[in-house]
Amino acid sequence: MKKRSVQWFGRQDIYGFIYRSWMKNRGIPQDQFDGRPVIGICNTYSELVPCNSHFRTLADHVKAGVLEAGGFPLEFPVMSLGETLLRPTAMLYRNLASMDVEESIRGNPLDGTVLLVGCDKTTPALLMGAASVDLPAIAVSGGPMLSGKYRGTDIGSGTNVWSMSEELRAGKISLEELHEAESCMHRSHGHCMTMGTASTMASMVEALGVGMPGNAAIPAVDARRNVLARAAGRRIVELVKTQVNLSKILTKEAFENAIRACAAIGGSTNAVIHLIALARRVGVELTLDDWDRAGRDVHCLANLMPSGKYLMEDFYYAGGLPAVLRELGENRLLHRDALTVNGQTLWDNVKAAPCHNRDVIFSFDKPFKENTGISVLRGNLCPDGAIIKPSAANPALMKHRGRAVVFETIEDFHGRIDDPQLDIDETCVMVLKNCGPRGYPGMAEVGNMPLPPKLLKKGVTDMLRISDARMSGTAYGTVVLHISPEAASGGTLALVENGDLIELDVERRKLELLVSEKELSRRKAKWQPPKAPLERGYWKLYFDHVLQAHQGADLDFLVGKSGAFVPRDNH
Ligand code: FES
Repeated sequence: MKKRSVQWFGRQDIYGFIYRSWMKNRGIPQDQFDGRPVIGICNTYSELVPCNSHFRTLADHVKAGVLEAGGFPLEFPVMSLGETLLRPTAMLYRNLASMDVEESIRGNPLDGTVLLVGCDKTTPALLMGAASVDLPAIAVSGGPMLSGKYRGTDIGSGTNVWSMSEELRAGKISLEELHEAESCMHRSHGHCMTMGTASTMASMVEALGVGMPGNAAIPAVDARRNVLARAAGRRIVELVKTQVNLSKILTKEAFENAIRACAAIGGSTNAVIHLIALARRVGVELTLDDWDRAGRDVHCLANLMPSGKYLMEDFYYAGGLPAVLRELGENRLLHRDALTVNGQTLWDNVKAAPCHNRDVIFSFDKPFKENTGISVLRGNLCPDGAIIKPSAANPALMKHRGRAVVFETIEDFHGRIDDPQLDIDETCVMVLKNCGPRGYPGMAEVGNMPLPPKLLKKGVTDMLRISDARMSGTAYGTVVLHISPEAASGGTLALVENGDLIELDVERRKLELLVSEKELSRRKAKWQPPKAPLERGYWKLYFDHVLQAHQGADLDFLVGKSGAFVPRDNH
């Protein structure tokens, strides 16, 4: 089949002159336009995204690989999304970035792409955009930071931010200690080094087969990360030649492998939304029920924060994701024949993977925690579903009935949670509304509400919390998330009042508001839908078109793919 790039660079007319001549301004010789595969290196480098700060170097290694394999590499920037700075939440822009990626690939003379991904949302954004074009693509993750080191102990991104800020609020540590910890926690290039969303998504890349073996865990500053980037550069040229498009990799089987891998690593709940959104781009039917079903008999094998105690650096030295996938494969929990971008099946990649430390990566026979697949809840509070991550939750609260303490917005929560007069005890259920896709907007990571200081001081460490929000992958606790439909779309969550009884039963997959239908109808009649946060621009587009959490929170008109057609000439 004729390569796309030939329809730019292979032209012998005025258009060919235009397409080639301007490219030559930085010294590209004529022979680069001889029809060799043109590989886009999609870079999310940005000084506003600290986790991706080393991506210029990473791109250079991909380029070297592409050149070695006889390809023509062209690096290009796309919108980058950083969790730490971007307000109101990076998730608001995931779909926007995916549009940037999709249109940048399709509108340019590219035959395949290498996607440089790192901070949480950059991975799904780039994969979703590339999937809607469906050319060959390989994702290269930037890799985790080195372990945080504070006063002789390891500290992890996010996880210890939550615990130390609660210790500060409870008066157990000083502000000086907190500042010192800030400097100790993030001390190298790379993304969060807990099994948070970035590490989870890097693991999903590997488990889906869209990344090279080892992608999940090699530290960002380990030379082997650069070797992986170079290998990906070589390999993408081959994928273009053999026409292995992304949709040949992203099959239903690949997604089921990823779901099981997510359970086995104690991965982030954010993967649920991102994988559903990605699957829908390539036309694979993936639902919340698939998450519950495929993950049901899977145990957590990785002793990593936030579920356990180690960090990604330890995970890599212990064998990384290949060692986990091998355990799954040996226990009939992998589709072994799923194809991966290195040309081998997933099983071929991992069947001989060694484990060097059984305190970091447990065996399936003696798992770190049992039955840790994401549990999908239903009931009158969440007819379209809600989720809970059992590996991060308190077993004693998995069946619980309590009195609702309601916060209408996150500002309402912040305004009242420290009040010693707040009528709350450890048996209550904290309810947060209006933090879903439309409500926030962007479905912020605020579902793991900090506990009231008066209960922290009493030694309470966990309570049942429910919301339509997401939760940081580095967070933990008995937290029900992604309630669908969300409050801002008129879900039952909008109708919960202080003092209502709420019942959770994870075993039975139930979440119920114990209020009569009649009373709920009365409340619904008084409910007013919220207005769009802005009347113009991307926020308005997002508010009007975003789908609910159980559908992946994509924009309705972005679901599916348009393929890699070559647009008409530009002059
Ligand atoms: Fe970027 Fe955690 S803040 S990965």
